[in-house]
Formats: sequence, structure tokens, C-alpha cells
Amino acid sequence: MSIQKVGVAGCGLMGSGIAEISARAELDVVVREVDQPSLEAGRGRIEKSLGRAVKKEKISGEERDRVLERIRFTTELEELADRDLVIEAVVEDLEIKNQLFQNLDGLCGPDTIFASNTSSLTITDMAAAVNRPDRVVGLHFFNPVPVMKLVEVVRTIATSEETFDRAFQFARTVGKEPIAARDNSGFVVNLLLVPYMLDAIRQLERGVASMTDMDKAMVLGCGYPMGPFTLCDFVGNDTTLRIAEIMFDEYREERYAPPPLLKRLVAMGRYGRKSGKGFYDYSGDDPVPLPV
Ligand code: CAA
Repeated sequence: MSIQKVGVAGCGLMGSGIAEISARAELDVVVREVDQPSLEAGRGRIEKSLGRAVKKEKISGEERDRVLERIRFTTELEELADRDLVIEAVVEDLEIKNQLFQNLDGLCGPDTIFASNTSSLTITDMAAAVNRPDRVVGLHFFNPVPVMKLVEVVRTIATSEETFDRAFQFARTVGKEPIAARDNSGFVVNLLLVPYMLDAIRQLERGVASMTDMDKAMVLGCGYPMGPFTLCDFVGNDTTLRIAEIMFDEYREERYAPPPLLKRLVAMGRYGRKSGKGFYDYSGDDPVPLPV
């Protein structure tokens, strides 16, 4: 039984991307945000991304309109009741995610699969909070969702084979390449990526080289699409800090400990691209390195 009706809870950076690719795969999509301004911001992100695809002649103007018609935008949680799959992409806070899934547990039919796009929390902690642990799975997408090909499909010890297979197939339906991951904090990508980003910040604190030279080093020396500080600003320093805190709490290993500089940037609201300033200033045409 393939997934036809998709619900997305949260229409931020990740939720808007997941809603977009699901609608582009001709699935019926409902996306829910907590209030009207957040919903409008999410719709704006999807329109901008589709506008980019039209400009690059990947889709026509008519296709863009049809994709948008396939997405229902709402602030009502009840509208997710008839979905085959609900993917949550709300803030990285276990209590908020669990509250959401518990509310959905009472609304959705028994067959609805609950998926989380969490980057660092464990899926088991969410599965344990609902009455359908066998139908809870991780579906971890990467930013920018329309571009990055990978999805980590995460199975807990309670996830049924059928749930896992349907989630795996869903990832393929929306044009992604899924991999299977066990339910450990960080799955595969963040387990490796987060220490790299944090280590770059630690080396910057030690004065190993300038920020721009370290960014240049990883782009030109290793062929990475972005250097570590550009990537931190892209992911969001507040997000990376939150992920690091969760992973450090889980593993108690130094390599996941958030470096002081990351905390100071977040305290100053320098979240990265989304706030206009992070390691770099994004107010002009090209990013300008800021003092750290
Ligand atoms: N939405 C939609 N499409 C986008 C986009 C966006 N936000 N940003 C870029 N694109 C598309 C462009 O349209 C372009 O498409 P075509 O190749 O078909 O023309 C393509 O992506 C490349 O874009 P650009 O040429 O404008 O820019 P670029 O070559 O610098 O690529 C990038 C931009 C794809 C973001 C690239 O720099 C990159 O891959 N960076 C690394 C991203 C990364 O590591 N993401 C993972 C972050 S970690 C994470 O998400 C997990 C977590 O839990 C924290």
C-alpha cells in the first residue's frame, strides 16, 4: 500500500521542502503550521523554491501552479487526520514533538505512519510516547530538501517491517535515495558531520587559520561544496548548537560538546543566513566575514 496522502507538521526550512517535493511527486499534501504568519512564511518559501525551478526550466509555470494546488495549507491539526503518513518537522524539542504526536495519535486512523525529521533526537523516544510504536519511523531529509538526494530512514526496535518498507518506498517516490539507519542520535550523517563542524570552530578558536582560509581549504582541498563556516551559517548556528547539546547529552563525548564560540554567536542572534549574520554577514551580494 503506497503512501498517497502526506501530512507535514511544520513549514519551516525542512517542512516546506518536504511538502514541496511530496507535491512535485504528485502526492496529496496537507501542511500544518501553528499560526498564520508562520504558514504564510512557509508558503512563501515553497513559492520561491518553485520559482527557482521554473527559472531553471526544470518545471513549467503550469506545473508550478499544479504543485501548489496539491498542497493544502492549514493551522488546524485535525486536517492531518486522514493522512497515510505524517512527517513532523517542528522544533528540535522532544516535549513539543511528543505532544504533537500524542495529539495526532488521537486524531489519525490506526494505519497512519508517524515519521520524524529530527536530526539528533532518537525516534524511540517519540515511539514510546504514542500508542502505535510499530508505526513510528525516522525520515531524515537534508537541507536544501529539493536538492539533497539522501534520506536516512530510521528504524527503532519497535518499527514494523511494513512501516519501514513503506517509509523507504516513500523516500524513493519523492525522488530521494534512501539509506537504512539504526536509531542512534545523529544517525549516520550528523554522527560524522557535527563533530567536523564543531572541530572547525574549535580550530578557529585556537587560531589555526582564518575563517575564510579554512573555508577555502575544505572547498579547494577536498572538493566540499561549502567550507565548514559557510555550512554552519547555512544549517543555522542555533540548530547546530541544539544538535550538539542533544548529541553531547547522549554520548558524553568531547567531540560533540558545543564550543564556546558557537554559544556566543547564538547568544548574539548570529544564527547564520536565516538571521542575516553568523560567521559571515549576508546583507550584501557576497558574504563578508565578521569578527569572531
Ligand atoms: N532550494 C531549492 N533549490 C536550490 C536551493 C534551495 N534552497 N539552493 C540551491 N538550489 C539548487 C539550484 O537551483 C541549483 O540547481 P541546478 O543545479 O539544477 O541548476 C543547484 O541547487 C545548485 O545551486 P547553485 O548553483 O545556486 O549553488 P551551489 O552550486 O553553491 O549549490 C548547494 C548550493 C546545493 C546548497 C551546495 O552548496 C551544497 O550542496 N552545499 C552543502 C549542503 C549540505 O551539506 N547540506 C546538508 C546540511 S546538514 C543537514 O541538512 C542535516 C541536518 O540535520 C543538520
